[in-house]
Amino acid sequence: MKFSGQAALVAGAGGGMGLEIACQLIQRGVNVCLADIKPRPDDIADGPGKSIYVQANLSHQDAVEDTVNRTQQAFGRIDYLANTLGVLWLDKDKSAVNIDMEVWDQVMNINLRSMVLLVKNVIPEMQKSGFGAMVHFSSIDALRGDPLPQDAYGAAKAAMIRLSKSLAIQFAKDQIRCNVILPGPALTPMQERWQGKPELQANVAEHIPLGRLGSAKDMANACLFLLSDNAAFITGTELIVDGGITAHP
Ligand SMILES: NC(=O)c1ccc[n+]([C@@H]2O[C@H](COP(=O)([O-])OP(=O)(O)OC[C@H]3O[C@@H](n4cnc5c(N)ncnc54)[C@H](O)[C@@H]3O)[C@@H](O)[C@H]2O)c1
Repeated sequence: MKFSGQAALVAGAGGGMGLEIACQLIQRGVNVCLADIKPRPDDIADGPGKSIYVQANLSHQDAVEDTVNRTQQAFGRIDYLANTLGVLWLDKDKSAVNIDMEVWDQVMNINLRSMVLLVKNVIPEMQKSGFGAMVHFSSIDALRGDPLPQDAYGAAKAAMIRLSKSLAIQFAKDQIRCNVILPGPALTPMQERWQGKPELQANVAEHIPLGRLGSAKDMANACLFLLSDNAAFITGTELIVDGGITAHP
């Protein structure tokens, strides 16, 4: 894969898919600002690209502005945005009919408002250089209903797809691309309920045609392709990375 850009902001890079994406970019010589509400993880790749870490709540406007400014100051430009941040609150996020509206608002703020804040601040930086590529992480949960739903999560993830298409159309003239990845179940800190429980993992894997859970690496591989020059003619679309779940009748 070839990367013409020099600098990336990875939102949600404190663990899971975001950290893996950041490390792969650094290893390919891209300078990366890793941003997350969590403290800095120990296992950030150490080059050849440079890195900075910003601990921030990216559902807040000031925090996003500060993070983008720090990325710009450190690297002089922002060519790539990988937006992996998100929360799945299985205990509190329920049917829209039963959900506490405070929870609804929080999930929307974290999963969707953050995307708006990020693109509001990052796209002007990309326009300065007339080049940019973004990948936003939705979920296969955006595509279908669920008898035991997380309705706020699913609605936010579906909205991300529509917003991404709109951004792709608006900013294609500036050579800025915008795409979405829809992961299926993947073994990351978000799914800590499956960690160290091979029987539970095997139960989930039974419903996945390729016979296993996804990994942060599977998602990072797809994300890096969409960010790279190899995807130069791909914008406004979705890449499902789910081991075949959604293809199954
Ligand atoms: N793991 C899965 O099974 C799965 C399936 C479908 C979709 N996804 C989506 O993929 C993306 C990456 O998920 P993951 O599995 O790597 O999960 P993860 O929990 O490991 O990573 C998400 C990161 O977002 C950060 N974050 C949450 N709220 C934040 C905030 N307000 N400000 C800054 N950072 C914040 C978390 O601290 C965390 O490090 C998410 O958007 C998730 O919804 C995951």
